[in-house]
Amino acid sequence: MTDIKKFLRKNKICPACIAKKAMAATQIHLNGADRFSNGVALTPMGWASWNLFRNRINENLIEEIAKAMRDSGLAECGYQYVNIDDCWMSSSRDADGRLQGDLGTFPSGIKTLCEKVNALGLKLGIYTSNGTLTCEDLPSSLYHERTDAETFAEWGVEYFKYDFCHNIPIPSNAPEISKVTLTLPGKADGIVLHAEDAELRGNAILLSDPKMADTGRYVTGLESGGGSMIFSNVDIPEDGTYTLTLCLHKTGLKDKYLEIVINDTDVYTLTEPGTKGFTPEGRNQITVSLRKGLNTFKFHNPIASKMDSAARQYRNMAMELQRATKLVAEKNGTDEKPICFSICEWGRNRPWIWGHTAGNLWRTTPDIRPTWLSIIGIYEATVRLYKHAGPGNWNDPDMLEVGNGKLTDDENKAHFSLWCMLAAPLILGNDLRAFIRPDGSVDKDNKVLKIISNKAAIAINQDKLGVQCRRINTNGLTDVLVKPLENNEIAVCLLNKGPREAEVSFSIRDIAKESFVNLPKADEYEIYDIWDDKEFEAKDTVSKKLAPHSVKLYRIKAD
Ligand code: GLA
Repeated sequence: MTDIKKFLRKNKICPACIAKKAMAATQIHLNGADRFSNGVALTPMGWASWNLFRNRINENLIEEIAKAMRDSGLAECGYQYVNIDDCWMSSSRDADGRLQGDLGTFPSGIKTLCEKVNALGLKLGIYTSNGTLTCEDLPSSLYHERTDAETFAEWGVEYFKYDFCHNIPIPSNAPEISKVTLTLPGKADGIVLHAEDAELRGNAILLSDPKMADTGRYVTGLESGGGSMIFSNVDIPEDGTYTLTLCLHKTGLKDKYLEIVINDTDVYTLTEPGTKGFTPEGRNQITVSLRKGLNTFKFHNPIASKMDSAARQYRNMAMELQRATKLVAEKNGTDEKPICFSICEWGRNRPWIWGHTAGNLWRTTPDIRPTWLSIIGIYEATVRLYKHAGPGNWNDPDMLEVGNGKLTDDENKAHFSLWCMLAAPLILGNDLRAFIRPDGSVDKDNKVLKIISNKAAIAINQDKLGVQCRRINTNGLTDVLVKPLENNEIAVCLLNKGPREAEVSFSIRDIAKESFVNLPKADEYEIYDIWDDKEFEAKDTVSKKLAPHSVKLYRIKAD
């Protein structure tokens, strides 16, 4: 079998199949593997509506929660984001195609709500999905990235959670290209780039179809990051906005995607639905900005997997958010309000690998529930991912369930401690209004409030080194976790996952030998027991009996 036949068979290319005209063309931003950084989210702390309130939300509730966050002292502990999760939006966009708050439950609009939350010294967060609808089947942001990012920035939103329901992955197939023309508006003649003159890399090859006009030659093999077609030193006569026409060889019923990279920096994308047509030639036109002089054009589809697709889509939204906040600041002559970007892709496409190039935090698992089993399941999945977390880019084991469901006081403390050790975003999910008595005073004895406002536990979470804990010992039912902290200190968490009391011990000297900690050798160590609010000293081994479903949380330094 010839190479070409092998290629056709391997790629299931059927010359008789035909494709339909282009559907969408957008410009995206590409900065490869750069770390996403917007100076916010070291580590985010706040509250979100979903865990407890689900779809039963309205503007009064959000404002009441914001007031309770301030009045209960939680804001002073570091909680600052008040995040509206799913179900805030109307099922119809407004006349300009913009998202709007539900006309019944958020009648004043999100901008007004944002101003009220800001007036309390707090920040507002919002939610949509990287799909055609949210998980509750309301309008969402896929294909509306620019408009929605601008809308959120104009409203003054400072946190954005982007879910993954109803996602449509970017296809890994690519169109076949016979010719590219570049023309200025109103002019029929322009520059013509023939497929046979291109430099072909990787799997890209030149084929011909006698049924096509002209030479019948076209380039195929541009899919899945496997090949590219390049025209170098294309002489552009003048700066301007050009129409780039891709002349295509119609093929296959599969959707296709193409990126056009100009001078390695400007990236334009095309999506082309695979459908039937009567003729072998197709056309797809986009507008591109070109500079006078020699230009390079690269045509390829770098998407080889669903992971590539998710990474590209989230990164695209991230760049739109950054663009939008700058734009709004320039327009209004105000300080930029960067948007903390929360990737909620449930760990489907290993976001810990690419999340740092796209956002500030990425969910590592499916949704949390207010049960011990759910909390431990999520902890188990996330504790292994310590290498991927760092300042400004965090593993997100989901919003806290402390205070929800039937979790016991021990379970609530353990859940909060684990999230602190994991350097996880601390986004509360309970009803903060419960901490304020009818006379307006704070119920300081409230057990849940005591947990979530424990400043020593929060300090472990917020430690500037931004290092996620490592599990240094486990027997399946009990674990020992260690988190390096500033000033050569460490946090140690003993966890009993099981249903029976268990004894757990650790050797401080052994921990000091671990290369990821920086605990000086000492004759004695000072240990602060965070939940018991007691200090004691130890020379080496510490042994403690732990009740079922409980933790001990320590901060340790050399004496
Ligand atoms: C998904 C997310 C949840 C929540 C809901 C809202 O399930 O993972 O955190 O946002 O959608 O519909």
